[in-house]
Amino acid sequence: MDGLRGKFLVLDGPDGGGKTTVGRLLARRLTDAGLSVVQCRDPGGTKVGDRIRSVLLDFDLASMDIRCETFLFMASRAQLVAEIIRPALAAGKLVLCDRFISATCAYQGAAGYDFEAILSLGRHAVGTTWPALTFVLDVPPDVGLERIHRRPDAGRTGSLVATCVPAGVAPLAQARHLDAMERRPRSFHDQVRANFLALPSRYPAPVEIVDASAPLEQVLETLWERLKRL
Ligand code: TMP
Repeated sequence: MDGLRGKFLVLDGPDGGGKTTVGRLLARRLTDAGLSVVQCRDPGGTKVGDRIRSVLLDFDLASMDIRCETFLFMASRAQLVAEIIRPALAAGKLVLCDRFISATCAYQGAAGYDFEAILSLGRHAVGTTWPALTFVLDVPPDVGLERIHRRPDAGRTGSLVATCVPAGVAPLAQARHLDAMERRPRSFHDQVRANFLALPSRYPAPVEIVDASAPLEQVLETLWERLKRL
């Protein structure tokens, strides 16, 4: 695992793919293997970034112009790279980041933003700090959105009606605050997934697609085996 020191890894993928759980377990495993791991999330991960994140995910602002939205994601990311990621990598730590430019390609790409323009903004925001490897935890929207709807509400309040509640989800499970992204229509989430699946041939850094509808242990094992080869 020595080859992983100073490496930048990203977990990304459609909503409900299990990034948070997988990230936590993977970070623990990497730490147990003797690595110094820094975990962060995008958007957010810094004081400035967390403020930008709350603006981005505020449902009341869902009518935000796509350029404004994309620039805000990039702004949060620029701060995260400058304040957390770059110094950590320079100190030989492994950085495990929840989402990155790959997410803008998928989500803002699905909202109509030009792919090359996103990459160009991305280069401006992060310079040469691109991930050594991005894992896309892939789940079909039906599975991902159902997982989200079944999550216990972490005490957040807000409007409760979703535009993309999958069939067969219990009414109680629908009583959860959905953020501005999760509330977008089903067709949007289909396009997000398609954009993620297209990344290996379009993204300027390595991307690996992982089937995240498999059992958690299996997903972790797949990531682990791939990391050994990095
Ligand atoms: P999260 O699911 O990782 O908390 O991310 C919050 C939402 O923001 C999620 O629905 C994906 C979305 N998002 C974008 O639309 N563009 C981006 O560049 C990023 C990083 C996230």
